[in-house]
Amino acid sequence: MLFDTHAHYDDAAFDEDRDELLSKMRSGGVELIVDPASNLDSARKARDIAEKFDFVYFAAGLHPNDLWNKYYEGYLSDVRALAAHPKCVAVGEIGLDYHYGAEYKELSHRVFREQLELARELKMPVITHEREATADFLGIIKDFSDIIGVVHCFSGSWETAKTILDLGWYISFTGVVTFKNAKRAVEVAAKMPIERLMIETDSPYMSPEPVRGTRNDSRNVRYVAEKIAALRGLGAEELARVTLENGKRFYGLTAK
Ligand code: NI
Repeated sequence: MLFDTHAHYDDAAFDEDRDELLSKMRSGGVELIVDPASNLDSARKARDIAEKFDFVYFAAGLHPNDLWNKYYEGYLSDVRALAAHPKCVAVGEIGLDYHYGAEYKELSHRVFREQLELARELKMPVITHEREATADFLGIIKDFSDIIGVVHCFSGSWETAKTILDLGWYISFTGVVTFKNAKRAVEVAAKMPIERLMIETDSPYMSPEPVRGTRNDSRNVRYVAEKIAALRGLGAEELARVTLENGKRFYGLTAK
């Protein structure tokens, strides 16, 4: 059984068949799912999904790509209120993205730090996103080695991975590891400590080979598991078991 630690079922791409699709997850080998919010509206949708499906949990946060239209003064108290929900397991998805959001750099730094500080105060893990902002991102998370975080959809270098791992943080891989040009992600997935490794789909995006280009869903996390297992010389079931345990430990779901 697999843990898809990062899938956006609140996304409009699932509006037509969300419930039907989610009802197929267990038979598709998926035991647990975390739906990280992109903004406060998406967090409320993710909460509603988590209330309906016992194996779905959610995270509340404001994503750097949503700052331009979803940031407002007082957003942080709304993140705090949602974080109190029994099925909210993390603050996220938060981080820095200069690919889309370079003009919001200053705001993105403040919002990222504010949410990291909230996670510290609430003793919750964080789910982070970083794109084309590695140096600034690492500079900020270095101040948060006392909290637990994951860098999702990792495709960075081994040096970057080492900095993240030295903080005690986790690294999570999507279907990117199945792509032919994903040399750096493959290198890190092959040699990082397995107890800090998580797998995810980032649905509806990032569909792995051999279903690349289609709408992604959590059942495809098995392709990520199979690829990383092969890289490490493990059976896919063993990799699934270890990453399920890692995800449960990270999100505090061990006793649930
Ligand atoms: Ni995401």
